[in-house]
Amino acid sequence: MPTGAAIPSLLISACFLLMLLSQPLWLCSASLGKPLYHEEECSALLGFKSSFFSESHCDYGDGIIGSPQKMLSWKVAKEGMAGDCCNWGGVTCDEGDGHVISLDLSGSCLMGIMDSEASIFDLLHLQDLNLAYNWFKRSRVPSAIGRLPRLKWLNLSSSGFSGEVVPATMRFLNLSSLDLSGNPGMNVSSLEVWLQSLNKIEELDLSWVRLHGAIPSSLGNMTNLTMLDLGGNMLSGDIPSSLGNLIRLNRLNLFSNQLAGEIPSFLGSLTNLRTLDLSDNRLSGKIRSTLGNLIRLNELGLRFNQLAGEIPSSLGNLTNLMMLRLSQNGLSGEIPSSFGNLIRLDELDLSSNQLAGKIPSSIRNLTGLTYLDLSSNELSGLLPHSIYQLQNLYSLDLSSNYLTGVARLDLLLELNGIMNVGLSSNAFSSIIFPEANASVTQVESLYLNSLDLKEVPGFLQQQNMLNTLSLSKNDISGCIPQWLLEKALDYLELSFNNIQGTLPMPPSTISFYRISNNRLFGEIPSSICKLQNMLVLDLADNNFTGELPPCFGNFSSHLYALSLRGNNFAGKIPKFNREGCQLSVVDLSANSFEGTLPRSIANCDQLEYVNLGKNKIIDTIPSCLGWFPRLRVLMLHSNMFHGVLKACGNDSCFPNLKVITLSKNNLQGRLTAEYFKNWPEMKYPTPDDEAPPGNLVDMLKMVIIDKGIKREFGKTSGYFALLDLSSNNFIGTIPESIGDNLLKLHTLNLSNNHFSGPIPLSLAKLSRLEALDLSRNKLSGEIPAMLMQVTSLEIFNVSYNNLSGPIPVGNQFSTSEVWETTAALTKFGAQSRAEVELDTGSGVDHSRDRTCRGFDRGGGVGAGVW
Ligand SMILES: *[C@@H]1O[C@H](CO)[C@@H](O)[C@H](O)[C@H]1NC(C)=O
Ligand SMILES: *[C@@H]1O[C@H](CO)[C@@H](O)[C@H](O)[C@H]1NC(C)=O
Ligand SMILES: *[C@@H]1O[C@H](CO)[C@@H](O)[C@H](O)[C@H]1NC(C)=O
Ligand SMILES: *[C@@H]1O[C@H](CO)[C@@H](O)[C@H](O)[C@H]1NC(C)=O
Ligand SMILES: *[C@@H]1O[C@H](CO)[C@@H](O)[C@H](O)[C@H]1NC(C)=O
Ligand SMILES: *[C@@H]1O[C@H](CO)[C@@H](O)[C@H](O)[C@H]1NC(C)=O
Ligand SMILES: *[C@@H]1O[C@H](CO)[C@@H](O)[C@H](O)[C@H]1NC(C)=O
Ligand SMILES: *[C@@H]1O[C@H](CO)[C@@H](O)[C@H](O)[C@H]1NC(C)=O
Ligand SMILES: *[C@@H]1O[C@H](CO)[C@@H](O)[C@H](O)[C@H]1NC(C)=O
Ligand SMILES: *[C@@H]1O[C@H](CO)[C@@H](O)[C@H](O)[C@H]1NC(C)=O
Ligand SMILES: *[C@@H]1O[C@H](CO)[C@@H](O)[C@H](O)[C@H]1NC(C)=O
Repeated sequence: MPTGAAIPSLLISACFLLMLLSQPLWLCSASLGKPLYHEEECSALLGFKSSFFSESHCDYGDGIIGSPQKMLSWKVAKEGMAGDCCNWGGVTCDEGDGHVISLDLSGSCLMGIMDSEASIFDLLHLQDLNLAYNWFKRSRVPSAIGRLPRLKWLNLSSSGFSGEVVPATMRFLNLSSLDLSGNPGMNVSSLEVWLQSLNKIEELDLSWVRLHGAIPSSLGNMTNLTMLDLGGNMLSGDIPSSLGNLIRLNRLNLFSNQLAGEIPSFLGSLTNLRTLDLSDNRLSGKIRSTLGNLIRLNELGLRFNQLAGEIPSSLGNLTNLMMLRLSQNGLSGEIPSSFGNLIRLDELDLSSNQLAGKIPSSIRNLTGLTYLDLSSNELSGLLPHSIYQLQNLYSLDLSSNYLTGVARLDLLLELNGIMNVGLSSNAFSSIIFPEANASVTQVESLYLNSLDLKEVPGFLQQQNMLNTLSLSKNDISGCIPQWLLEKALDYLELSFNNIQGTLPMPPSTISFYRISNNRLFGEIPSSICKLQNMLVLDLADNNFTGELPPCFGNFSSHLYALSLRGNNFAGKIPKFNREGCQLSVVDLSANSFEGTLPRSIANCDQLEYVNLGKNKIIDTIPSCLGWFPRLRVLMLHSNMFHGVLKACGNDSCFPNLKVITLSKNNLQGRLTAEYFKNWPEMKYPTPDDEAPPGNLVDMLKMVIIDKGIKREFGKTSGYFALLDLSSNNFIGTIPESIGDNLLKLHTLNLSNNHFSGPIPLSLAKLSRLEALDLSRNKLSGEIPAMLMQVTSLEIFNVSYNNLSGPIPVGNQFSTSEVWETTAALTKFGAQSRAEVELDTGSGVDHSRDRTCRGFDRGGGVGAGVW
């Protein structure tokens, strides 16, 4: 019999003490003979609640917001007794024996460190446990999960678990569904070992858990899998052919990994697939026409790969498709007219390929389209009229093609739901805008670049929802109408026009403002500092004058990118804010800034790109620049920097620096060996051409590419490492440590200094060097024959030195006519006036712009660019 007074008076339930396996158990029932719940299971649940639940945990601050609803229904029935938990939120009991078999506590405001002592592990009858969307504070997955003998469904998605998941944890389980997705602190060091313990699995979601290495081919043994999601990891290698055994799969997601090779042919036989997403990998080759067999597909994602060739017309057989994403590949040929059969399509994204020909008129069939992106292709011909009849369109981007004829923006804006339209950079003969005051749809964003517009279109005056407007590279002259500046714009792009007058002051909502390459003049008023939302400000290449207002330093504290390049600004560079500085890109080059570089720049430790070249700064080079963890480009050329270069005395000096130009200053002294020892980014031969992060790409295009150094900083190319110390007063020998440490250098320019001694042998280690200019120094001795092993070297200038001895013969030079003729005339002596300039091109990719890389004959870098 029960002890004490804890027994309820059987108003709604009766409890009996059973002796099972020598463990006392309370079995309670509403009416005799029909068990409903087990008191000790219910109190285990209450224990769990008291350890982990709090309403105040519902907002975890990282976008996961739970609801307290389920847990609030978990209440003690009577003092000392939990009561019937089978009707609590998220709890399901077996109708027959009253045991808790399912617990769905997803998004229930649970927080705290969980270990194997947690009382839910006493629920030995659990079959289904869902703890997704909670915050378990980087707990490891408790091994006690392995003690739940009947568990079939386990869901720990996005719940803050971390650390190695021990295979043994799963050993005793016969799971049919496992979801560990979205726990980026986790790591699974051997998926293969793991899989052996999951031989009953049907649904496996291991996306965003930091898997790495190859996809184990033993996955193909798990032939009952219906869902496999390994997206968002670091998986590499090919997609193993054994996955062809997984004929029951209806969802296969491998997006955002580093998978290579071709799209495997077996995929065409996984005919149960409804979702196939291989986006954001390194897949190459053609899209196989057998993908057209997957007639149940609703979603097909192949974007961000390196696929080439034509789009197979068989994809037109996928009549159940709702989403098709093939963007950011190298696809060519025409858009198959068979796409007219994809009548259930909601989203079609073919952007950023090389698709040519006309937009097929069969597009008229796609009446359900809400999102159509054909931008950045080579499409030509007239815009099919059927575009204007896609009544459900929300977003349409046709930018950057060769479309001709009349573009009827007026008709597009009659579509009821339209929000975003891009028509930029086409060959339209004209654009018909809506009449002023016409009742058209209120849109949010319009991209109308490079369309020969002579003025800001008047209909915009009635567009009151507009937040993004891009009108760059048109022929807009005169002033910007005041009504435009009074809209609640977030993004305004007016670069490359003929806009005149003083700075048009955008509204306070603005965060992105570019009005570079216009004819603006006058001073920057201090009212600009009131634009507290500004992130990107580009006023480059105008004719602004005067000093920056003193508040500019504070203003810059929340800016991400600032370009004032190519104006006539004078006076001192304002102090940077002490409270903090988010600047990542700053370009003040080609102005008349004077005075010193404010030391408060030390607060801007997020800087990645700094160009202060071509000003009148008189200063020494502050050593704090060496500490910026992200700094990649530092250009201080053509100023009056003086003094000696100091090693920053720090192991973490210039961890990311790849481009440094200090040419045309008054720097002096010797280069110490130490100076070049601590640039890890230059030293370790990791893949050279990685892209800079996200938004920075655009800014870098703006600050560099527009200026003539035509290097694409896109997905496939990055910075070319460059060191330019030319035209200063450096003395002493060239340290061997340059060649020993700066292994990634593409360009080294030490010309026009007072360097003496021999050419360092170590320079032969710079296997990527394309241009080496040591001219106009006092170097002596012979030209090291080993230098000729640098096969990438295209430009080599050692003229105006005191060199002697034979001219070395190397693989790439010996065949060169230039070399033969020049060599015959040239002695490497002080009296020699001839320059040795080699450009043999053997084995070198000439597709890149030549002016980008070399030295011009005057010894400066980049032919007058700097
Ligand atoms: C898992 O399934 C196997 C048979 O497939 C069975 O022998 C084993 O007992 C099961 N494990 C559990 C914990 O139920
Ligand atoms: C897995 O994570 C743990 C804890 O963070 C770490 O100690 C261990 O080195 C990691 N293992 C691998 C292979 O990354
Ligand atoms: C895991 O739980 C979350 C939240 O309830 C749900 O969205 C997700 O689909 C579940 N995973 C599986 C594999 O069922
Ligand atoms: C696959 O599922 C079936 C039942 O649907 C089962 O009989 C079979 O044992 C399972 N196979 C494996 C390898 O688990
Ligand atoms: C599992 O797959 C691997 C590789 O595909 C294979 O060698 C092995 O024989 C398979 N094991 C079973 C039990 O089917
Ligand atoms: C699939 O498409 C191709 C090419 O468009 C066509 O020849 C073939 O008959 C289609 N197959 C089916 C089953 O519709
Ligand atoms: C439009 O779709 C229908 C099926 O609904 C199809 O028969 C027809 O061929 C399609 N038209 C074009 C031009 O693709
Ligand atoms: C548009 O409407 C405004 C007032 O609502 C009026 O002043 C203006 O004249 C109208 N413009 C045209 C072209 O009808
Ligand atoms: C820039 O302004 C100066 C006077 O401040 C003027 O002399 C010069 O012509 C202007 N340049 C251009 C390109 O408008
Ligand atoms: C900059 O902000 C600080 C407080 O953050 C303030 O004390 C200072 O006066 C401001 N400077 C200017 C020039 O506005
Ligand atoms: C080294 O760099 C860090 C910043 O990364 C800085 O805080 C520290 O003072 C530097 N140490 C020396 C000796 O300069």
